[in-house]
Amino acid sequence: MSEQSVKAEQPAATVPAAEGDSDMLVRRQTAVYVYEAPLRLWHWITVACITVLCITGYFIGSPLPTMPGEASDNFLMGYIRFAHFAAGYIVTIAFIGRIYWAFVGNSHARELFILPITKKSWYKELWHEMRWYMFLEKTPKKYIGHNPMGQSAMFVFFVLGLTFMIFTGFALYGEGLGYDSWASQMFGWIIPLMGQSQDVHTWHHLGMWYIILFIMSHIYVAVREDIMSRQSLISTMVGGWRMFKDDRPD
Ligand code: HEM
Ligand code: HEM
Repeated sequence: MSEQSVKAEQPAATVPAAEGDSDMLVRRQTAVYVYEAPLRLWHWITVACITVLCITGYFIGSPLPTMPGEASDNFLMGYIRFAHFAAGYIVTIAFIGRIYWAFVGNSHARELFILPITKKSWYKELWHEMRWYMFLEKTPKKYIGHNPMGQSAMFVFFVLGLTFMIFTGFALYGEGLGYDSWASQMFGWIIPLMGQSQDVHTWHHLGMWYIILFIMSHIYVAVREDIMSRQSLISTMVGGWRMFKDDRPD
């Protein structure tokens, strides 16, 4: 078991056994504070921004048909692009804040960025978790922070994916602002690296589907694990506390 797994957590509350428990044992309910408020706030701000970015980005790539009336009466694509850029700024500033929190927050705040790839036991647990997700294991393990599979997916799909989207997004944004703009100065080099502007558009567009793949599986496993695992998941990302459904140590 990894350090993340529960060993001997102090019971947060001790409650009498539920009615019908024949041996009348006392059932312990443990709870551990895992995700601090800034991390939780960041998660839900990011969810909102990425939803806006995917919807508006889709329409930037596949614009709506011609609008009725005078061209000067319509500014729909302008609003769509504005929402995209505003959400792009917010998600980027929030991500910088999230990186800062990895330094000053608790140990769970670092899990998103640091995969324990040098630990042999981690691979064993990763394999166990994969088998659990494929319905090949009867019992999942307990985790206080992210399980090894969730942690890997969050790093590979989310951290790398979002970093890529921020770099390519600001390279495109710099084109619109002008070649002497800060965005062009900082990220302009990406355009010739990828070929030309249209290549950056294509990769930025593909990046959206890469992130959507993550979101679909992430929501599926969050709901599935909330029901099937031995600890709380979604309420933990809301209130910060991890509750455990049983007393067994591993
Ligand atoms: C755009 C959509 C979403 C993105 C990009 C996203 C991204 C992430 C990331 C990066 C983390 C890791 C947090 C960290 O360690 O700092 C995380 C954790 C988590 N997310 Fe999301 N999320 C999304 C939507 C959702 C939704 C809709 C739910 C609820 C159904 C959800 C539930 C959770 C839970 C429960 C965790 C903690 C998992 C654990 O404790 O191991 N997420 N998410
Ligand atoms: C998860 C994050 C993001 C997603 C899913 C996303 C998605 C998209 C998509 C699908 C397009 C259309 C590409 C095409 O087919 O031409 C697009 C365009 C664009 N995005 Fe993003 N994007 C994200 C982040 C960002 C960020 C952080 C910025 C920085 C401001 C940004 C700036 C732009 C710009 C400037 C364009 C081109 C607009 C135009 O040509 O009118 N994006 N985005």
